[in-house]
Amino acid sequence: KGRESDPCWLRYERIEDEALADQYRQWCKKLVVCGSSPILDSAREELVAGISSMLGISPTLSRDPQVSPSLVMAAPSEGRNWVDRRSWEEMGEEGYLLKTAHREGGASLLLLGKSDRGVLYGVFHLLRLMQIGRPLHSLEIVENPGNRLRMINHWDNLDGSVERGYAGKSIFYHGGRIARRLDRVRDYARLLASTGINAISINNVNVGREECRLITGSLLPDVARLADVFRAYGIRMFLSVNFASPMWIGGLPTADPLDPEVRRWWRERTEEIYRHIPDFGGFVVKADSEHQPGPLTYGRDHAEGANMLAEALRPHGGLVVWRCFVYNFQDWRDRSTDRARAAYDHFKPLDGRFADNVVLQIKNGPMDFQVREPVSPLFGAMERTNQMLELQITQEYTGQQKDLCFLVPQWKEVLDFDTHAEGKGSTVKAVVGGQVFPFRYSGIAGVSNVGDDRNWTGHTLAQANLYGFGRLAWNPDLSAEEIAEEWVRLSFGHDPRVVQTIRDMLLESWRVYESYTAPLGIGWMVKPGHHYGPDVDGYEYSYWGTYHYADHRGIGVDRTVKTGTGFTGQYFSPNRERYESLETCPDELLLFFHHVPYTHRLKSGETVIQHIYNTHFEGVERVEDFIRRWTRLKGKIDEERYEHVLSKLQEQLANAREWRDVINAYFFRKSGIPDEKGRKIY
Ligand code: GCU
Repeated sequence: KGRESDPCWLRYERIEDEALADQYRQWCKKLVVCGSSPILDSAREELVAGISSMLGISPTLSRDPQVSPSLVMAAPSEGRNWVDRRSWEEMGEEGYLLKTAHREGGASLLLLGKSDRGVLYGVFHLLRLMQIGRPLHSLEIVENPGNRLRMINHWDNLDGSVERGYAGKSIFYHGGRIARRLDRVRDYARLLASTGINAISINNVNVGREECRLITGSLLPDVARLADVFRAYGIRMFLSVNFASPMWIGGLPTADPLDPEVRRWWRERTEEIYRHIPDFGGFVVKADSEHQPGPLTYGRDHAEGANMLAEALRPHGGLVVWRCFVYNFQDWRDRSTDRARAAYDHFKPLDGRFADNVVLQIKNGPMDFQVREPVSPLFGAMERTNQMLELQITQEYTGQQKDLCFLVPQWKEVLDFDTHAEGKGSTVKAVVGGQVFPFRYSGIAGVSNVGDDRNWTGHTLAQANLYGFGRLAWNPDLSAEEIAEEWVRLSFGHDPRVVQTIRDMLLESWRVYESYTAPLGIGWMVKPGHHYGPDVDGYEYSYWGTYHYADHRGIGVDRTVKTGTGFTGQYFSPNRERYESLETCPDELLLFFHHVPYTHRLKSGETVIQHIYNTHFEGVERVEDFIRRWTRLKGKIDEERYEHVLSKLQEQLANAREWRDVINAYFFRKSGIPDEKGRKIY
């Protein structure tokens, strides 16, 4: 803090290969810019800054399209004249084209978009190609985003704290107000836009009394300053709102969504918001969930609640992002209630009742961002209701940015999961991409992992999660390998040993984290409250609905239709049958769906208890191996990041040992079954 913040993947380091740099200079020394707007100006500034920094030249700017050779960046209105109709039409609303055009009188590199945003995304793509060292002489790229909404959710509070934040304080708020200087926010907007993010909600879904003021005249002028910064990078701002705001700040006796006074109140509030922020995105709402107020209090359902807000936003083109993270607290003695069922049970019956500017935001799993969960059965189950996916970039249950855990491989599994909603091929990415059902709005949201730490994310390597999230939201077909390698090259350069080591560590890290924490999809077993470190029974006798049911014979939750909670019945066939049967249920989710004896044999051939011991010993060894591999990078990367990551890995090792010993001791004492390999269990 105080010092300049880390540029992350926008380092634009000087290109050392002179031959390559010279080729780039040919294209970049003359820049023809057609058009101007806040977004196009950001695009031009970024392009000029990137070129100067990587190539050591200041491009001459021109408006004359005849200059050649040159890089031509053209706004939608002018770009149309540069390419044939087919190429132009291949581009969607936010798409762009990067093409080397050899014409009479010379060649130019065309960078065109269908919208200002498209041009901005094209600029970042071009700069990325140069950072990665790709040739530019025969480009023929057309890209369109795979998702309409590519959104970041912040869980920041006005006092500067961040719920589940592991990277310092909020970059937006300071002591009950919006920060005066917004340089940091501008850098953040650049980082997000560079990966294609186009929407952001700036406050916690748990909206306190103070935060209710964000939609009032006292704070709206400041909120509008933030919106201005994001707008220049093509990012629309959303706010989380408290459903009881009409009572809390409006002085009304009720927040009943069918009450005319309540409706009028929201309409007027919304009008005022749009007076300050004409392109305001809309509201994010956590209602009737974990103590947040909602429509159920008034005997109304979620559709009635969401539609009331949708009605207020509709005239302005705003959206309601209504979260499906809704469940009831329960008595741990009651084994028939199942939290995993809750989202589907609450929302499925409401299909078709939501207004068309409401989008349901569904967490990837049915529980809560555990290291391993099945995909929520709600995806694809509501064909007449807009849906989007919610992921957690911040590592609440996955190591809190102390432990290395690159989440892209997990997200890939989620996106590629076939729901079978409309037969084979109805993957989650196709559902939220709007290809399975014709949703008007859909996409992906991720809970941010940044704070005001100099490196943004606490653990420097956790920057890869933010980057990877944006890249996947743009193109869910990218592989985890591609994203990891791209990020490493952008962030650490091209030394082969460096690229290979960091890429591999990233790609292995999620499974390593899984191996030393809660086994076989059972989840939880974390210290209550803050959720870091092991406490096997921490939630076992609580009202949270997060149990493992371990006794001296076995462990796991029976969620089958036949003998359990019936959760498996919420999936489409053949997923339903696959999870229902012990024979076909995948090992990694076994304990999520079934209660089995410790001696049950997995498909891997090991018994459950031996699997627990093996993975926990191995997990620690693999963290030790991370440390060994990292130390071989000494001298190959800057000292500061080298030392920082090394110290994080050492912290991770202590955590992994703690998990290993607690989990192994616990299950050895419960089961009385010794480790086949006779290793030390306490
Ligand atoms: C998790 C998290 C909470 C958060 C909640 C949510 O349970 O621990 O801090 O408020 O998710 O998504 O609303």
